[in-house]
Amino acid sequence: MSQEKNRFFSHGTIERNVGLLMLLTFLVIATSGLVQIVPLFFQHSTTEPTEGVEPYEPLHLIGRDVYIREGCVSCHSQQIRMLSSEVQRYGPYSLAGESVYDYPFLWGSKRTGPDLARVGGRYSDDWHRAHLRDPRIVVRESNMPAYPWLQHTSVENENVQTRMRALRKLGVPYSDEQIDKAPEQLEGKTEEDAIIAYLQGLGVAGRDAAAEAVQRGGE
Ligand code: HEC
Repeated sequence: MSQEKNRFFSHGTIERNVGLLMLLTFLVIATSGLVQIVPLFFQHSTTEPTEGVEPYEPLHLIGRDVYIREGCVSCHSQQIRMLSSEVQRYGPYSLAGESVYDYPFLWGSKRTGPDLARVGGRYSDDWHRAHLRDPRIVVRESNMPAYPWLQHTSVENENVQTRMRALRKLGVPYSDEQIDKAPEQLEGKTEEDAIIAYLQGLGVAGRDAAAEAVQRGGE
């Protein structure tokens, strides 16, 4: 009999004792999980907004809700990964601090269409208008659905102030003044205006900071 077998904590003892094996496996996975996850709660790069990133303007906020309602996230991701092919195609990769005001986040996992994390400013408002009403007008082979009804629905009566107050409870720093003035921004606007405003803002504010991070090769 080898010396190995007589030791209490030998490999053999652990493998033959299912309860002990499960307990030790759990401890290893739990510890390594905590080591990865816990620091993220305290790191500035994941909890603080990236330089330039501000809470959504009221019109953008409503546009974001239309985006959620229409299920755009099921075909479009909003997260550029740290791969050179992605950075070349979409722009500087997404930083965690760019999503701190996103409740819920819309990173997505499906790309039937392109990633939209930095689509802001890539096209004109008119391009988006045509594209949303009938994608085939601007991209002949597109299989994106048309959203022609958005132009007909007003957002004036949306309860934007309630939404902003709810977000403030979650930590988004809206001031009383911003909340008071919010309905003014929605005057005369449609859901189409709102979703275009939202799209045009995507990835713009954090772009410079993200480009610097790409240069440094980190963060
Ligand atoms: C069934 C999948 C699908 C859904 C749902 C969908 N899209 Fe698309 N989208 C695509 C495809 C495919 C393309 C690429 C072809 C094109 O430009 O139309 C695209 C392209 C785009 C583009 C141009 C991106 C670029 O960089 O060229 C934007 C902007 C866009 N979609 C916004 C939206 C919005 C907003 C919604 C929800 C209202 C939406 N999409 C819903 C499939 C989808």
